[in-house]
Amino acid sequence: MITGKTNVFGIIGDPVEHSLSPGMHNAAFNSIGLDHIYVPFKVKTEELEDAINGARAMGIRGLNVTIPHKTEVIKYLDYLDIAAGLIGAVNTIEFGENGAIGHNTDGVGAIRAIEDFTPVKEKKIMVLGAGGAARAIAFQLLLSEAESLVISNRTIEKAQELKDDLIEKLDQEVIITDLGIDLEKELEDTDILINTTPIGMYPHITHKPLVTADMMHKDLIVNDIVYNPLRTGLIMEAEKAGAKTISGIKMLMYQGIESFRIWTGIEPPIDVFQSALLKEMNLEKF
Ligand code: ATR
Repeated sequence: MITGKTNVFGIIGDPVEHSLSPGMHNAAFNSIGLDHIYVPFKVKTEELEDAINGARAMGIRGLNVTIPHKTEVIKYLDYLDIAAGLIGAVNTIEFGENGAIGHNTDGVGAIRAIEDFTPVKEKKIMVLGAGGAARAIAFQLLLSEAESLVISNRTIEKAQELKDDLIEKLDQEVIITDLGIDLEKELEDTDILINTTPIGMYPHITHKPLVTADMMHKDLIVNDIVYNPLRTGLIMEAEKAGAKTISGIKMLMYQGIESFRIWTGIEPPIDVFQSALLKEMNLEKF
């Protein structure tokens, strides 16, 4: 029941109508018996500053931030945690007595999804794409002591920018390539492949993935961060090759779990997050 004491959390973005986060967080709040509620707020870019100031004024306790505000929102916050500062993007805001703190749980969410299968430490990893999601994941992979990182992107200049930033901030070498290279050869000694491009995302589900079964080996772990559909073309190719697969839904779930932990100090029950997501997506398992 919502009362005068209920703590309000939410998500700001545009669009936000299809967000799966309210379902996950409300289910977790309920299951633990917290007097918290999580609501979606559609916020236009030109209203972002007002939205953050309004959230402070109204005592909102925490917000998730999604497209297109993840970078822009930094201007209106008081502090950033280490990951958000390195990545240069925020997906979680914690409002407290000392002000608004920006966090980024996207990278750590992706790493937790992978680490359900294997530690990333000392692994050879290839990331496809060099956009916002790739940035968050690349920084977190290096913070988690991955042995080597290859970033392959259609536009090499964009991969170069990410590389320069990784070297400047973490002093770690990464290899960049465009998509014209021999991916099969490159993948021979790769342990984990992560797709961060939107290829295969609904409604373009029949787009050919950048990597097909013939280029994969059976010990490869393939993580597609696209979760709609759950079994993307890349995941199906990985299954064909006998490789292990990780659905993008796990990254979504773990970034939410990490936000929840930041706001409440409690590690929420994973099964509650998982079943809330399944219900929202009309699925039985993932
Ligand atoms: P996000 O913030 O979700 O990561 P983004 O910043 O738009 O999204 O990044 C999308 C990434 O997917 C980019 O690296 C993009 O490559 P470019 O830098 O060349 O634009 C990549 N991408 C998108 N569509 C692609 C396609 N059809 N083939 C190859 N790469 C693609």
